Amino acid sequence: MRVYIETFGCQMNVLDSELAEALLRSAGMEITDREDSADVVLLNTCSVREHAERKVHSRLERLCDEKAAGREVIIGVLGCMAQRTGEELIKLHKGINLLCAPGQLHRLVELITAAMNSSPQIALDPPRGQAKKSTTETGFIDLLRNPFRTHLPAQAYVRIMRGCDKFCTYCIVPYVRGPEQSRNPDEIIEETKRLIDAGITQITLLGQTVNSYRFEQSGKTVGLADLLKRLDNLTGLKRIRFITCYPGGFDRAILQAMRDLPKVCEYLHIPAQSGSDRILKAMGRHYSRADYDRLIDDARQIVGQIGIAGDFIVGFPGESDEDFQASVELIRRTRYKNSYIFKYSPRPGTVAARRFIDDVPPEVKRRRNIELLTVQQEVSLADNRALIGKVVEVLVEGKSPLAKKQNKGLSPEGSSTSDNLVQLTGRTRTDHIVVFDGPENLAGKYVDVEITDATALTLIGRQKTQGEDKKDDSYFKNH
Ligand code: 5AD
Ligand code: SF4
Repeated sequence: MRVYIETFGCQMNVLDSELAEALLRSAGMEITDREDSADVVLLNTCSVREHAERKVHSRLERLCDEKAAGREVIIGVLGCMAQRTGEELIKLHKGINLLCAPGQLHRLVELITAAMNSSPQIALDPPRGQAKKSTTETGFIDLLRNPFRTHLPAQAYVRIMRGCDKFCTYCIVPYVRGPEQSRNPDEIIEETKRLIDAGITQITLLGQTVNSYRFEQSGKTVGLADLLKRLDNLTGLKRIRFITCYPGGFDRAILQAMRDLPKVCEYLHIPAQSGSDRILKAMGRHYSRADYDRLIDDARQIVGQIGIAGDFIVGFPGESDEDFQASVELIRRTRYKNSYIFKYSPRPGTVAARRFIDDVPPEVKRRRNIELLTVQQEVSLADNRALIGKVVEVLVEGKSPLAKKQNKGLSPEGSSTSDNLVQLTGRTRTDHIVVFDGPENLAGKYVDVEITDATALTLIGRQKTQGEDKKDDSYFKNH
């Protein structure tokens, strides 16, 4: 049986799809990248904005039409939309055979098998109030993953927590992903060791608010900084990242860990959402603009060279021009490496959707979105240009999307490169994207690259060293 999985949304979904694939493969199913000839089509979905849901609805419409026209296919919806919309989704799209919420993925094989023989299968998580809050949660399927199949060469995501307890007023995540649960650090270490044995050298720890990570062990609380210390000791590992952070109550020990631990990369994704105190309050963010500014100052002071990324929502209910200007000003002050900017989208069931009118006209949202992006690009371009002439360590991801599209190597200027060089893309420790020409087999390796040019989105460079796996000698002695 051939299964096709399409992933929407965040890194957590990318990881969940990877885990689902491992489960299905171990049950003897084949994973295909051809949707048209698949026997089972699974959509792993996102509910964070209406736009994300609309994309899934139109995919479902097309699939269900094909099915009505005679195609034999099992259609499944996984992830946040399955949880948020529940049975309603099947009423809307009659061809759906299964719904599987984020916390029910371990049942996927059983659900597909049952769906082939009977009516639609529905596996949802219990509503939030009824969910068991326990740190010994057994639902983690992460240890069953195949460490040889990850989203990029030499890189893997590792979940350290599930859910969110912050309840920002605009956000659907606490309702669909359930209460915050941190994973046992021993399990995280175990999973990371297996990944290292399979050749992984960079891990990215995942959670909605990773700095809230907390696990009680032998009478002590293990926090994110402690976890980073334990991971930093693992031989064979080269880089550790973590996303995403929440600015409120941010423990400075995490910044010290970033400064002191050689494997922890100098990168923070720390969404402010807005620069205006009035809006932050209405968003239920529980920190002030001054708290946020102080955190950024501390990060730069403690860590030194650091890449900071942010998220902003424009057009939140009641956002005035003055509030919006505070966000513009925050981008200029923080000098983010990059920002993800979203137009407010009311999510049914959230406090903001209930309490506030979505009163910023679409045209104003659009204008503010463009203005914020423009300011961010100005900042990014100036800061990227300041890196010209520097040599940076890059973990190569593979062919750049442009080279892939044209199926040949292109130098940044657009001319063809010599024989077996292609345009490669990779990232620095600070998460800056670097493109340069090199042999394709550098994917998954570390190279030094001299920066020769820059745009707002990318650094362009020239390869200085041969690729290295960056495993120290003791790694080979121990294995
Ligand atoms: N409308 C617009 N953007 C949202 N985000 C979360 N909920 C909404 C919403 N209702 C954005 C936030 C968050 C990112 C993942 O998505 O900026 O950090
Ligand atoms: Fe949503 Fe806020 Fe939790 Fe982030 S911290 S997932 S924005 S509720």
